Amino acid sequence: MCGIVGFAGRKQAAPVLMDGLKKLEYRGYDSSGVAVIDGDGNIEVVKAKGRLQSLIDKTDGDKTLHGSVGVGHTRWATHGEPNDVNSHPHLSRDGKFAVVHNGIIENYIELREFLIVRGYEFRSETDTEVIAHLLEYYYGGDMLDCMRKVLNKLVGSYALGVLYSGTPEAFYAVRKDSPLVVGLGDGENFVASDMPALLRHTRRFILLGEGEIVRVAADSVDIFNRNMEKVEHEIVTVDWDEATAEKNGYPHFMLKEIHEQPRALAAVLSRIKGDEIVLDNVKFTADEIKNIAKINIIGCGSAYHAGIIGKYFIERVCRKPVEVDLASEFRYRKPIIGKNTLTIVISQSGETADTLAALREAKRLGSRTLAVVNVLGSSIAREADDVLYTLAGPEIAVATTKGYTTQVAALYLIGLYFAGVIVSIPSEEYAGLLNSLKNLPAAVEEILAAPEKIQYLAAQYAGARDVFFIGRGMDYASALEGALKLKEISYIHAEAYPAGELKHGTISLIEKGSPVITVAVDPDLFEKTLSNAVEVATRGASVIAVAAKTNARIEQKADHTVFIPECSPLIAPVLTAVVLQLFGYYVAAAKGLDIDKPRNLAKSVTVE
Ligand code: G6P
Repeated sequence: MCGIVGFAGRKQAAPVLMDGLKKLEYRGYDSSGVAVIDGDGNIEVVKAKGRLQSLIDKTDGDKTLHGSVGVGHTRWATHGEPNDVNSHPHLSRDGKFAVVHNGIIENYIELREFLIVRGYEFRSETDTEVIAHLLEYYYGGDMLDCMRKVLNKLVGSYALGVLYSGTPEAFYAVRKDSPLVVGLGDGENFVASDMPALLRHTRRFILLGEGEIVRVAADSVDIFNRNMEKVEHEIVTVDWDEATAEKNGYPHFMLKEIHEQPRALAAVLSRIKGDEIVLDNVKFTADEIKNIAKINIIGCGSAYHAGIIGKYFIERVCRKPVEVDLASEFRYRKPIIGKNTLTIVISQSGETADTLAALREAKRLGSRTLAVVNVLGSSIAREADDVLYTLAGPEIAVATTKGYTTQVAALYLIGLYFAGVIVSIPSEEYAGLLNSLKNLPAAVEEILAAPEKIQYLAAQYAGARDVFFIGRGMDYASALEGALKLKEISYIHAEAYPAGELKHGTISLIEKGSPVITVAVDPDLFEKTLSNAVEVATRGASVIAVAAKTNARIEQKADHTVFIPECSPLIAPVLTAVVLQLFGYYVAAAKGLDIDKPRNLAKSVTVE
């Protein structure tokens, strides 16, 4: 949700800022802007509504901006519609401070009033503009002291990049509940909302802590805590290359990331060592595992769907009760957290505002917390008691694919690891599941090697107005994720239902030719699901089945069937997901849509 980049060096800042913004566009893409400062302290600001290209055009391909220190922003509007005025950076009244912001200032109305009575006038409808004016108001000769005073006034979440005309050699940045990393170069330094945005320049990063302020110049990076004490952080070196943030010949990041799943799954599953599961940063004693009385799983969007799979799996193999909640609901339902409750929070980005808040609420209520997160050093990863990284690598497309399947795989590892400790399933079943997990990358490879049928079906149904997805048990969770994938990138109305539920109302929407994607993988529930498929077919629906080979009888009733490779039914949702990801992708491709940046969405939702 909004991307920030900052640069201090000796060369022209604008091309570096534009390149960084291009990589961050997935975070928001309704408008963008940059501010640069030259050696004399002159600040130049250019902003443009629309995609980054409008900004590049407006600056004659960055040529019109000359300073070698600057900050940039790509926006996902919260306060004020996307237009040139509401775009960031925002300037103070005297033009000496420029600010870019990711997050929300919750008390901005109060701060606006505070400033208006002191003679400040507002140009935009944003919450951010208050920060620019507050900087001017509080500046008394020392920039760090000024930042501290301003931050003390702000309630909400923010990552900020700030230029001040009095210090043309440096820019300032700070983060609280919104991501920001510092990139270290040679005679140049950077900040960005995520690491991939800077991979062209560096692989050495510092992960800023909560509330920390950084002063970034070409040859120095100084970090201060809220009390203005200097702090030192270790340098994190990542081994990703620039290609991880490029499409590498694929037409879209989404397709590239779908194809990265065998590798990503192999990485997350590398915790299987022979017959054992070794979870690096998950430190439970055997007694602690045995004493877990209840597990809560929390996430948003696809992470929530992964949580539903996790619930079915963990309940089945550990025989412990599991509840799944959407993070935005969990916080406000006054959850009952007992002494031995474990809360698992799932988040690809590790920054989703609702998930972070739910994690804090669970901790406040006394729960032990375990994070399943992809982004290294993200807020959720840092704040949870234990963390299991999903090791999917950077995910750029807004619609998650490898992020999701690796979350599911991580939950399998947790469930099976616990089951091994408490000996809740027979050893043959344990071994069988472990085996299926080990085979997952190859099974996904098999689907990716032959996408033609899915491509054909996608072309057939790309004109549909509504698509229904049905399934039972874990197949229902797969249906939810399949429907989300389809609707978010193809803009086709898609709804998922437990297969037995459709007839309680929604079946009235079924008419001749309505596509009903029927997930029929679970052998125990197959007969029931088959009946439900027949019910809709009888009413004219066109049934497209995604099925296990053991359920081949569905072919007689379905209009089309896609079989997944052989796999334990408990592990198969990963394979179903890949089929449905490809379906969604090819439908959107057939419609010629902007697959990596669907309308109205952002990848990392750092507002509630
Ligand atoms: C956004 C993304 C979804 C994602 C959800 C949760 O809505 O578009 O794809 O599932 O956030 O994100 P997280 O980073 O917490 O997994």
